[in-house]
Amino acid sequence: MLNCFVTQAQGEAIPIEFLTEENFESWLKSQDESDRSWILATAFKAKQGTICLVPDTKAHIKKVLLGMGSSLDMQTISQLSASLPKGIYYFATALSQQQEYLANLFWGLGFYQFTPYKKFPSLEAQLKLNDPNHLSKLESLISTNFLVRDLINTPTEDMGPAELAEAAIKIAEEFSADAKQLIGDELLEQGFPAIHMVGRASDHAPRLIDIRWGNPRHPKVTLVGKGVCFDTGGLDIKSSSGMALMRKDMAGAAHVLGLARLIMAAQLPIRLRILIPAVENAISGDAYRPGDIIRTRKGITVEVTNTDAEGRLILCDALAEAATEKPDLIIDIASLTGAAKVALGTEVTALFSQNDVLAKKISETGLKEAEPIWPMPLYKPYRRLLDSNFADIINASMSGYAGAITAALFLKEFVPDDIDWLHFDIMAWNMANKPGRPEGAEAVTLRSLFSYLQERYNKQ
Ligand code: BES
Ligand code: ZN
Repeated sequence: MLNCFVTQAQGEAIPIEFLTEENFESWLKSQDESDRSWILATAFKAKQGTICLVPDTKAHIKKVLLGMGSSLDMQTISQLSASLPKGIYYFATALSQQQEYLANLFWGLGFYQFTPYKKFPSLEAQLKLNDPNHLSKLESLISTNFLVRDLINTPTEDMGPAELAEAAIKIAEEFSADAKQLIGDELLEQGFPAIHMVGRASDHAPRLIDIRWGNPRHPKVTLVGKGVCFDTGGLDIKSSSGMALMRKDMAGAAHVLGLARLIMAAQLPIRLRILIPAVENAISGDAYRPGDIIRTRKGITVEVTNTDAEGRLILCDALAEAATEKPDLIIDIASLTGAAKVALGTEVTALFSQNDVLAKKISETGLKEAEPIWPMPLYKPYRRLLDSNFADIINASMSGYAGAITAALFLKEFVPDDIDWLHFDIMAWNMANKPGRPEGAEAVTLRSLFSYLQERYNKQ
């Protein structure tokens, strides 16, 4: 059980009130004289993320005020987790069900610390849940979020293809799922030439992790995650600033493992398959080169115009394999392009799908889950930017325009039109510290996808 929640408290828990700047003045008037003068003395004005501890006559904390700024943005609540002293608290402000869910969630998410390599202060505040029935869902969502962030934050030295596979197998074993891997030359023998070609330059052998879970008679959902454990760019080497964060290039893999964990823990009635091509895009005498042409698993030939567009190459073999079984739904998650971040910034996730209704539904779910997801167009005319004079397609358009769209159009070549497909181009990284969002790995889209899958498949 996560330490940050309790379902009952001995003695009185301390109330936390959320205050917006707009309602602050009138609220202040309703307070008794001593509280009012204390609050005025602290100059608390309900600015977003500000906290005021109001004492009783014995100098104990009587209540906590959290400034929300202009509106009740539940993410602000993460500010409390690391700021409040040891004690048991509860939310005293009346909230809608959805707000209460997000309030609890962001309280929990505020406790994330990446501890393997540095000592952090222990955080000891605990929240008494107003409805104890919410505990298990919250725990599952929060612990999965932490797992995903830990996997991404871990340096490549400790999270190469082999360690990523180990982490995947550990999750599979937790739920008695079947896990297998193809490693190194087995990829060539079994027909995954693009995964092998991208990963072969590294001393840490490339691999394909393949996990199956659930009743084969249930509708099949296949998750595909980009597992580039480090992206140097290959021979088209990245600049040092471009390479600095590239241990996070396996974030897609971490995300599909997280989503799989949520699905398996909730025992959703689906037949789940997880495919993770795990490689290091390294540089050595055996590195693949610009100008090389790969005959991919699907038979489509790809001219490599840029070795830094490696993600789509490893994904294309995995997507081709996924499609052979005609699943009901394919979801791929990948830190695929810098262009997606240029278009949407670091906090909004780009979504591509050939099914506009589905894409709209997911972004609406994203709003409810406080996970901004934006549908982007699979604009067919841009397919010409991937035309090759030597092969069926090039891997990267060098036009400099529409990089996220052309990457998605490349992947689409490997997914038949009649299979529902969602492609997420994710950032998965906080560039600076914000409440509950410390610099480093971030998990995105997970709650929205899980909620959508529950709605789509859990109707009994
Ligand atoms: N891993 C990167 C994409 C990326 C970069 C994600 C920065 C998040 C932040 C990917 O493998 C890559 O290098 N893509 C290239 C593609 C280009 C060569 C067509 C990019 O986006 O620059
Ligand atoms: Zn790259």
